[in-house]
Amino acid sequence: MIPNTITVACLLWLWVPSTLAGTEQDKRGASDPQVTTIYRDVAIVGGGAAGSYAAVRLREDFGLSVVVIEKDDKLGGHVNTWTDRTTGRSFDAGVQNWIDINNASSFFRRFGIAVQPNVRSVLDQHFVDFATGSELTSYTPPSAADRTEGLRRYLAAAEQFISILEPGWWNLPEPSKIPADLLLPFHDFAAKYNLTGGLPQIFFTTGFGKHNFMDSLTLFVMRSFDVSMVRTLLGLEANFVPVSRRNQDLYDAIRNSLGPDVLTSSTVIDAHRPDGNGNVTLKVYNQDTNTTTHITAKKLLFTAAPTKNNLQPFHLSPDEKDTFNSFYYSTSVVGIVSHPSLPLNASFINTPAAAQPSNWAAAVPSYPYNTRFENYPNSSYYRVIAVGDQTFTINQARDVIQSSFDKMLAAGTLPRITPARNLTFHLLKSHGQVSASTSAEVLGTGFIQRLNALQGKRSTWYTGAAWSVHLTTSLWGFTDGLLPRLVASL
Ligand SMILES: Cc1cc2nc3c(=O)[nH]c(=O)nc-3n(C[C@H](O)[C@H](O)[C@H](O)COP(=O)(O)OP(=O)(O)OC[C@H]3O[C@@H](n4cnc5c(N)ncnc54)[C@H](O)[C@@H]3O)c2cc1C
Ligand SMILES: *[C@@H]1O[C@H](CO)[C@@H](O)[C@H](O)[C@H]1NC(C)=O
Ligand SMILES: *[C@@H]1O[C@H](CO)[C@@H](O)[C@H](O)[C@H]1NC(C)=O
Ligand SMILES: *[C@@H]1O[C@H](CO)[C@@H](O)[C@H](O)[C@H]1NC(C)=O
Ligand SMILES: *[C@@H]1O[C@H](CO)[C@@H](O)[C@H](O)[C@H]1NC(C)=O
Ligand SMILES: *[C@@H]1O[C@H](CO)[C@@H](O)[C@H](O)[C@H]1NC(C)=O
Ligand SMILES: *[C@@H]1O[C@H](CO)[C@@H](O)[C@H](O)[C@H]1NC(C)=O
Ligand SMILES: *[C@@H]1O[C@H](CO)[C@@H](O)[C@H](O)[C@H]1NC(C)=O
Repeated sequence: MIPNTITVACLLWLWVPSTLAGTEQDKRGASDPQVTTIYRDVAIVGGGAAGSYAAVRLREDFGLSVVVIEKDDKLGGHVNTWTDRTTGRSFDAGVQNWIDINNASSFFRRFGIAVQPNVRSVLDQHFVDFATGSELTSYTPPSAADRTEGLRRYLAAAEQFISILEPGWWNLPEPSKIPADLLLPFHDFAAKYNLTGGLPQIFFTTGFGKHNFMDSLTLFVMRSFDVSMVRTLLGLEANFVPVSRRNQDLYDAIRNSLGPDVLTSSTVIDAHRPDGNGNVTLKVYNQDTNTTTHITAKKLLFTAAPTKNNLQPFHLSPDEKDTFNSFYYSTSVVGIVSHPSLPLNASFINTPAAAQPSNWAAAVPSYPYNTRFENYPNSSYYRVIAVGDQTFTINQARDVIQSSFDKMLAAGTLPRITPARNLTFHLLKSHGQVSASTSAEVLGTGFIQRLNALQGKRSTWYTGAAWSVHLTTSLWGFTDGLLPRLVASL
């Protein structure tokens, strides 16, 4: 079953203890007491939305052995729940709710997590140009009718492309046949379909995930503002939250259920992947315990963002390198802040002055920016989201957020309270590089076809946001489609 060349390669990889070959049990390494070797059918890198889901399904529904390698100290990726120790109440800074497609609410019930429809609270909205800190005096947001009309037009346009964009782009036609609409910068697409009344909502919902939103190719805008999202906003699709209002509950339950099959605070530091179909071997380092685990697995399922840093230990072939290097990213950082100058029940939405009086296509700030300060109901805490290009750091995010606040104080939009002090950051978490995109030129060279062709090569399969619509439950649907192919390749 496993080609001889692979066995040779493994033997050459000195730290693989040869005495353990063929056993399925966890054992200590023969030479180094700090090293453990484990054997699994599938090793999964990344335990966020896609990796956690894949682990559960592979183990429980396909009866395979798995291990999840997650660099954070918990599963869940972008959820970012923070709990106020004094009251015990939790606040979700990242993922807010889930769209109920692909049997998603059943997946929650499977872990005993009761869900309910998500109801958004109404806040007192202030439109403020964060570049100056001044509240806009003559800005009118779209009326409900204009907003609905803009979203309906978007839905009608996007539905034409659903079979080639969702949940993955398996059916994207060859470069010369990609529909021209999908290659338009989004500002041109928005003008062509007169989406104007829907633009603030599109930006506010998912558009802020892209540093260059209005210039992004429409194909990539539809990766996050997809058909299911528009349908949800139009009331045509349900979305839900846990009754506990703590989104991390799902991933904590998954972690409990997977037990020792999850390695947290862990990253792959070296890897060997075969040229053909043999086993993958990984060297995994745990930064909390300072221990190393060797993993031998029949297949690798890579779910983290396919960035240079994340892929570095995997020794990419020139093909793989060329393909993944064509992606560029945005960076998003979420946080929870408080300050006595921030009133209750309000939101401050970053809206450039040029959007006045109702130039909605200009209601998108230039990056890097803080999108908004948004109060969590019945609390003094505010959610913030800062966005920049792929080089944007967490310290730059903190400065952008603090500076947008300072400007509102200086402009008198917020009252000064003495003694002066900075925002308190209760949580500030980078989502790292998100919104994988590329240029029309690169798409024109057959990029998507090259990307798809990497699936299964070198015993490596891929899921995660770069491969699908950037929303959790769409990503689960994409993963549902991928797993049977992975399993068939075992
Ligand atoms: C601000 C914000 C709000 C959002 N709100 C929603 C929402 O309300 N509903 C919704 O459906 N979607 C929402 N999304 C989108 C959703 O979060 C993403 O689509 C989803 O998390 C992507 O899943 P993923 O598995 O690809 O990545 P992630 O969930 O980010 O998971 C990747 C995991 O891999 C880990 N990792 C990274 N690098 C390595 C490495 N080298 N080794 C090991 N592990 C690694 C990370 O720590 C992480 O746990 C939101 C996104 C953002 C940015
Ligand atoms: C390949 O991996 C499987 C599962 O981890 C293991 O049982 C088998 O012994 C491995 N084969 C080789 C040649 O290492
Ligand atoms: C939905 O999910 C539940 C539990 O995860 C499963 O029992 C059921 O068969 C699924 N239904 C469909 C239609 O896939
Ligand atoms: C919050 O503000 C909104 C919009 O102004 C208002 O409808 C709502 O009643 C306010 N809620 C509270 C609790 O003050
Ligand atoms: C574009 O949409 C806006 C808002 O829905 C509407 O007022 C306007 O008449 C539309 N323009 C055209 C050319 O259809
Ligand atoms: C981690 O382990 C290595 C090798 O055993 C040792 O050299 C190093 O000092 C340890 N580091 C920490 C932080 O414990
Ligand atoms: C906030 O408080 C009001 C009044 O007590 C209550 O009706 C509402 O459900 C609360 N909202 C949240 C999100 O706790
Ligand atoms: C606020 O933070 C800035 C850096 O962002 C720092 O220079 C300044 O001293 C801080 N001010 C106070 C009052 O803490």
